[in-house]
Amino acid sequence: MQNFEFHNPTRVIFGVGQIASLAKHIPSNARVLMLFGGGSIKSNGTYDEVHAALAGLEHPVLEFAGIEPNPRYETLMKAVELIHRENVDFLLAVGGGSVVDGTKFVAAAAAYDGDAWDILKIGGKVVKAALPFGAVLTLPATGSEMNSASVISRAETQEKRAFMSPHVYPRFSVLDPAKTLTLPLRQVGNGVVDAFVHTTEQYLTYPANAPVQDRFAEGLLQTLLELGPQVLARPDDVEVRANIMWTATMALNGLIGVGVPQDWATHGIGHELTALFGLDHAQTLAIALPGVLQIRREAKRGKLLQYAERVWGLHAGKGSEDERIDAAIGNTRAFFEQMGVPTRLSGYGLGSEAIDAVVAALEAAGLTGLGERRDITPGDVRKALQLSL
Ligand code: NZQ
Ligand code: ZN
Repeated sequence: MQNFEFHNPTRVIFGVGQIASLAKHIPSNARVLMLFGGGSIKSNGTYDEVHAALAGLEHPVLEFAGIEPNPRYETLMKAVELIHRENVDFLLAVGGGSVVDGTKFVAAAAAYDGDAWDILKIGGKVVKAALPFGAVLTLPATGSEMNSASVISRAETQEKRAFMSPHVYPRFSVLDPAKTLTLPLRQVGNGVVDAFVHTTEQYLTYPANAPVQDRFAEGLLQTLLELGPQVLARPDDVEVRANIMWTATMALNGLIGVGVPQDWATHGIGHELTALFGLDHAQTLAIALPGVLQIRREAKRGKLLQYAERVWGLHAGKGSEDERIDAAIGNTRAFFEQMGVPTRLSGYGLGSEAIDAVVAALEAAGLTGLGERRDITPGDVRKALQLSL
């Protein structure tokens, strides 16, 4: 196992009805700006619950609406202006990963002196401070509610870039699974696939003698395989929703990634697919992961066999090593399809021209060494995507 330091400061407030306790976690004299998306929180009652919970604050709660899926730099800079104009000193994100990510960027940009795009171009190391913020999560998927990462798109240049900074961990996140009951099934499937791929990015690399991280990761994957079909069959079951929500948080709150190599090639490819063609984040992962695993099957052989055995029950008696690896990758693709997320470019009306565009975008951005060994070239990416035409 590699050396590591682990510190996750986010307070998780989990369970049905927990929004009512929000005011306990925000200073009573704070000037709060609530940020949200396109309106789902109004139609499902979350908006009213948050306002009721914050009614006792000394200052009225301000609002910034309209953070879009794959949140845009251009939109978020308007929130930064509002913060400066109104002397806002506490942010509250209410929504899915896009709203939480957007709020992280706004929190950092509001406290940054230079050109805010630096935060994405140069990276989180330029962030020396951020406004404090909390989150009320309505979509389990990204893990953003308990991590220090944020992914922002710039429409003007068709770029989608991430930054990480210890200053943008949420102070707290309220996770009320009942608030996820109104999600369209497409977003439910997306969330399961995203959490699944977050886990494989930190697990399907090479052995690092980290049995705790491995078994936590396998537990998360098995839980998603079990609960994914259940949530589609019984979308009103709050218990199933609760367990999916906690699984997605645990998949990307840092715990399973400590002391082990991490891949993230699938996400690197996926972000370009979203930036260029507007696909949902999880859709891009479902396209990219099977091909990435295939082209890296030699480098990942040890962990792929462990994955086949422990997650899919493909023991030594069930075929040769190569047959078991093929079956595990095939099962993964089939699971994503079962979750309603097509795994082929053709499923989204795209063909080989999309592959050319992704390869060109990776080259232009200098993203030429992906994966846990930083050796996946744009040519390898082409081969991986060709397996998902
Ligand atoms: O905008 P509203 O009206 O709220 O609608 C949203 C949006 O249209 C809707 N929605 C959310 N909660 C709902 C709901 N509809 C009904 N009922 C509810 N309870 O769902 C749509 C999608 O929301 P979005 O926030 O975009 O989805 P998700 O949570 O999947 O976030 C995706 C973003 O997170 C980034 C992705 O790249 C993408 O930009 N990621 C962030 C990560 C991180 N911070 O660590 C890691 C991930 O790998 C990912 O890259
Ligand atoms: Zn993701």
